[in-house]
Amino acid sequence: MPDAYAQALARSLNDPEGFWAEAARGIDWIEPWQRVLDDSNAPFYRWFAGGILNTCYNCLDRHVAHGRADQPALIYESVMTDGSRSYSYAELLDLTARFAGALAQAGVGKGDRVIIYMPMVPETVVAMLACARLGAVHSVVFGGFAAAELATRIDDAKPHVIVSANCGLEPGRVVAYKPLLDAAIGMATHKPASCIVLQRPELAADLGPGDIDWNDALAAAEPVECVPVAATDPLYILYTSGTTGQPKGIVRDNGGHAVALHWSMQAIYGIDAGDVYWAASDVGWVVGHSYIVYAPLLKGATTVLFEGKPVGTPDAGTFWRVVERQRVKVMFTAPTALRAIRRDDPEGACIAAHDLSSMRALFLAGERSDPETLNWARDHLGIPVIDHWWQTETGWAITANPLGLGLFPIRPGSANKAVPGWDVRVLDDTGHPAPADQIGSIACKLPLPPGTLPTLWNADGRFREAYLERFPGFYSTGDAGYMDADGYVHVLTRTDDVINVAGHRLSTGAIEEVLASHPDIAECAVTGIADAIKGQVPLGFLCRKSGHERAGDDIVREVVALVRERIGPVAAFKQAVIVERLPKTRSGKILRGTLRSMADGKEYAVPATIDDPTILDEIAVVLRGHGYPAIGSDAPSN
Ligand code: COA
Ligand code: AMP
Repeated sequence: MPDAYAQALARSLNDPEGFWAEAARGIDWIEPWQRVLDDSNAPFYRWFAGGILNTCYNCLDRHVAHGRADQPALIYESVMTDGSRSYSYAELLDLTARFAGALAQAGVGKGDRVIIYMPMVPETVVAMLACARLGAVHSVVFGGFAAAELATRIDDAKPHVIVSANCGLEPGRVVAYKPLLDAAIGMATHKPASCIVLQRPELAADLGPGDIDWNDALAAAEPVECVPVAATDPLYILYTSGTTGQPKGIVRDNGGHAVALHWSMQAIYGIDAGDVYWAASDVGWVVGHSYIVYAPLLKGATTVLFEGKPVGTPDAGTFWRVVERQRVKVMFTAPTALRAIRRDDPEGACIAAHDLSSMRALFLAGERSDPETLNWARDHLGIPVIDHWWQTETGWAITANPLGLGLFPIRPGSANKAVPGWDVRVLDDTGHPAPADQIGSIACKLPLPPGTLPTLWNADGRFREAYLERFPGFYSTGDAGYMDADGYVHVLTRTDDVINVAGHRLSTGAIEEVLASHPDIAECAVTGIADAIKGQVPLGFLCRKSGHERAGDDIVREVVALVRERIGPVAAFKQAVIVERLPKTRSGKILRGTLRSMADGKEYAVPATIDDPTILDEIAVVLRGHGYPAIGSDAPSN
């Protein structure tokens, strides 16, 4: 008799329409769908075509109508303001309906875009849900991005309104958002009709003629009802790093998203209505969209919104204090946060000091979980610690260990096994299945399950090219790894120029574009090197223009400032070295992988295609001079 997981996986792959139609019963529909899966325009698949619903209704109104009005929907915990506040479903609905009225008064209607550039405060969730209520399309931009990144997103999404705040709070500093917002609007070609600005008490910001104070907007607004939308209409756009400086606008639909996320709460996380769930991420990332906002609320659970860092302010017990106080049942964070906690509390004293008996499991994602950190957390917490793998594009987990369906043995180092709905394969360079344990490209057979990206915003061609052309019939994840004989998937590295810094996805190409704009730089390369806490951090290799022999230290200081100004502090770009030449293949491709191995002090094979291997020795000398453990081209071949 197969277990519930194996049964669900088999059914989801053999009868996807039946499987997802059953899951769709967890959602309230205004009109039922005509086709569960519309493949008439493949590879642009559409889930629940013909169905009509409203995502905000499913997150709020229906729970209020069915007895959850007084249950906490959202608990805001901030170590930055030392505040905690709970919002019941009725309160969150009231605020959302009124803010939707404010947006409507500002001219926002169905299909219009709204950019949300805000810190981790409850109003951010209200703004997102208010857009969903109106059928407007939100695009949340992470607060750690600089003005130029925001401007790029403004020009791509063309928002009618921007919702922002005067400031965000980072340890030791208040980040003034308003000057960044104004600069971004100044840079962008597209101009929003107005901006609604939340004024936090920590900073006074002067509002301009096109700005509306959040409180004024709310006071003047009437609550509005939910606008029916098609299941296939877009709910949001979330930009993520690709291989160039132009981010990809991942589109999420309404119907498939609601069905998949609602299903995932019980099946993957073992969460029922009324349980407390905490994803310690940021609403600016996909984890925040899916598991701070939409999935817990679709399920009728209580979600925790946390502002602050896991360590430092006040100490490494921050997470555990919140778990104890709010009786969190399941928590989700990035391995980098655990590494930071472990660094400050290696013996787990802060864990032992708290009553964590409410906690059933800890889920990790955003980057590979190193087994040492995972085992450390498991040993001290005494609960399953589950690595699961997903991407902005997929919106929810591709591989996991499903708490709700029944856990199978955890194999640290792996991201567990394919989640029902996902046909995961490891392919070799020719597109053939790689044998067990052999590294290849990880791909997922089409059609992808509901909740995944139907396309890129205004870029169908780029969608095909980026994800579907490499392996026809498959979605190419951009990740490489292997599957063992028991089906555990080990996700090892990216196959493109994307790096993962503290669980944040960054494009080395985007950083290179900024470095190359410096007047003294002729050529450059950026690679991600190993970091004990952040997993990876970017390292720049800079070649000066001939005749531009200014001191290397000055140039490095300037480019570090330039990346912070153009991309934002989240890039964590703090290291660069000046080199005379970059190693390239005979066809001129920079050997970034070799540079990374060198800076990490790893053994590497001198690529057969290298144009001039002596460059590696020059670079090794420079790297060692800066304290990197690099070996030269005398490294043993493997
Ligand atoms: N607004 C403005 N600045 C921000 C910001 C925001 N929303 N978020 C981060 N930054 C800044 C930080 O202040 C920092 O600036 P600094 O260079 O002046 O110190 C920089 O961006 C890098 O931030 P971060 O990567 O968060 O590093 P950190 O050293 O401040 O904290 C960790 C390290 C590990 C504690 C932190 O990265 C963490 O908790 N990560 C969890 C990641 C996560 O949730 N990922 C989501 C996927 S699940
Ligand atoms: P993002 O789109 O920002 O969520 O980043 C997605 C990328 O992060 C993936 O393509 C992987 O490279 C990496 N990633 C996320 N989760 C994991 C995991 N559990 N194990 C390994 N890599 C992961």
